[in-house]
Amino acid sequence: MPDRGNIPATPSSLWKYADFLPVGIDNAVSLGEGCTPIVNVEGFGHKPIRVKDESRNPTWSFKDRLATVAVSWARMIGAPAIATSSTGNAGAAAAAYAARAGIPCIVLTYKGAAGAIVAQMRSYGAMVLTVPEMQDRWTILSQAIEEFGWFPTSPFFGPAVGSNPIGIEGYKTLAYEIAEQSNWNVPDWCVLPVCYGDALFGMWKGFDEMIRWGWIDACPRLVAAEVSGSLSAAADQNLDMPPAVSRNSKSIANSIDVTRGTFQAHEALKRSHGCAIALDDTALVDAKNKLARTSGLSVETSSAAAFAAIDVLASRNIIGPEDNVLAVLTASGLKDYGTSGTDRLEALEVDPSLSSVLGALSNAYGFHV
Ligand SMILES: Cc1ncc(COP(=O)(O)O)c(C=O)c1O
Repeated sequence: MPDRGNIPATPSSLWKYADFLPVGIDNAVSLGEGCTPIVNVEGFGHKPIRVKDESRNPTWSFKDRLATVAVSWARMIGAPAIATSSTGNAGAAAAAYAARAGIPCIVLTYKGAAGAIVAQMRSYGAMVLTVPEMQDRWTILSQAIEEFGWFPTSPFFGPAVGSNPIGIEGYKTLAYEIAEQSNWNVPDWCVLPVCYGDALFGMWKGFDEMIRWGWIDACPRLVAAEVSGSLSAAADQNLDMPPAVSRNSKSIANSIDVTRGTFQAHEALKRSHGCAIALDDTALVDAKNKLARTSGLSVETSSAAAFAAIDVLASRNIIGPEDNVLAVLTASGLKDYGTSGTDRLEALEVDPSLSSVLGALSNAYGFHV
């Protein structure tokens, strides 16, 4: 049984937990990911919540935890290429780590993917192609895996179970870090935005391991902040498999905009006695703006879902006033500025005089001296 007292202090990356990952540290393709800070934020729920700020990772999202482990494995087995079907952050992370490993990277995405993230993928030298339908992306990927041995980091068949299981192991380090940073008294609740539930399931697995090793007493109740309502429907209707939920319009939270949750996410919620909360665009924009303007944290729109979910749970008294709550801030606001439709992020042009500055401050921003 591993001893938590033997966790090394270095490297200051998630690879300090290499003993519990499928790849040893000698084979790690690392950019210094993980070991992200926890900061306090007020204004959501009752007491200050703790925020695990994953925007501080090398490609500014928590997907680096998956990519570092998956690409390390791919390099170890001599994969000829990394391939992924991604709308954004997973593709950007795969591209960065593939570049670091010296392996070609192919990203199949779709036309509406956020411009900044596609540019990020390209900047690492990834070959980025758009294919309209997710189903077609998966078919192409599975053919290339079969024929050329490309190494997939994303799902490539449906209904999706999740991304590459080797990569998902990387998310266990979120749980290890949260426990260690909490002095082994884990939060009552951990809330995160969910798409395929890779991070949700990986975190649950990490907490579960630590319980079995005697490092912590209990698993936090895990909460999936979702936009589809699929996981919520599975819980409400006591289904084994989350159903596909059709919607009239796309969510502004591109990164988590799927119509169907996964079995692994549903299981993680059941096993941790957690729940799913479905959120609409208005709740996401409100939470995103509140976070940036009152806490100085700029988050990708999908990341705001965790904070909106905490508001919902607190208003329903499901989260109690004294409960310790942690939100996982999954990606930086730099990823999708200007995509929520309501953002006014441009600077105002004024005449070069103090009076016109004061006039604009008052008229446009309501600021009076
Ligand atoms: C910023 C962000 N948050 C959350 C998620 C959900 O990830 P998962 O598939 O682990 O549920 C994604 C997935 O793409 C993402 O990019």
